[in-house]
Amino acid sequence: MLKLLWIALKVKWQECREFACVVWRFRSHKAFLLSYCLLAFLYLFSSPYSVSRRYLKWIDAGDVYSYGETPLTSLAEIADRTGIHASDHVFELGAGSGFTSLWLRLVKGCKITAVEWVPGFVYRLKWVVRVLKLSGVEVRCEDYLQTALENATVIYLFASNLDDLTINKLAERLAALPSGTRIASVSYPLQPYLKQPAFDLVERFEVCFPWGRADVYVQDVV
Ligand SMILES: C[S@@+](CC[C@H](N)C(=O)[O-])C[C@H]1O[C@@H](n2cnc3c(N)ncnc32)[C@H](O)[C@@H]1O
Repeated sequence: MLKLLWIALKVKWQECREFACVVWRFRSHKAFLLSYCLLAFLYLFSSPYSVSRRYLKWIDAGDVYSYGETPLTSLAEIADRTGIHASDHVFELGAGSGFTSLWLRLVKGCKITAVEWVPGFVYRLKWVVRVLKLSGVEVRCEDYLQTALENATVIYLFASNLDDLTINKLAERLAALPSGTRIASVSYPLQPYLKQPAFDLVERFEVCFPWGRADVYVQDVV
């Protein structure tokens, strides 16, 4: 119980620090800051962690505490080292609350398709997109093992709690994307989950996440 309370306090502190860092660092991106504050407002009384927890309880998932977010300061590093440009169309598989998708669209300038199956995340993000009349952001309430991946030039995948079978299914899908499609995955590379050679590892580096440091693997479909 005490341990959970300690983790909750640590997460709250990190959230506040991240909020201040984001506002300061991206202060010149007014459209992004507006969308960021609007979306943050929608989570004022129910954090992304509780939205995810409620959904996971509802579907009777084994681990209901598995939600996590990429801090935007870390996402900036991931985007740079992955080589994401304004001409890219990024598919975020498991977009969560959607702060990352808004950042990719409004700071990096790329087109973004946010795929997320928790309706509580999807309707909030869709609302922000609609109210601010944002173009180049598509939000889908779908399973990323099923959703169409046409036109993706970059995939961002942060899903460290998946079982091996699911990662294998996902890797099979991603291996079928056109050659040169770039995939940034957090915590594990995809190649070990396949028998046939399908991905070229381009880079591996560490970034900060709320629970500590994690490896990011950048790989290209061969
Ligand atoms: C670890 S969170 C990452 C959120 C966000 N991408 C980020 O980096 O901040 C993973 C998200 O994937 C979603 N998710 C898990 N399995 C999914 C599936 N099969 N289809 C769509 N979304 C899924 C979860 O609901 C969760 O919001």
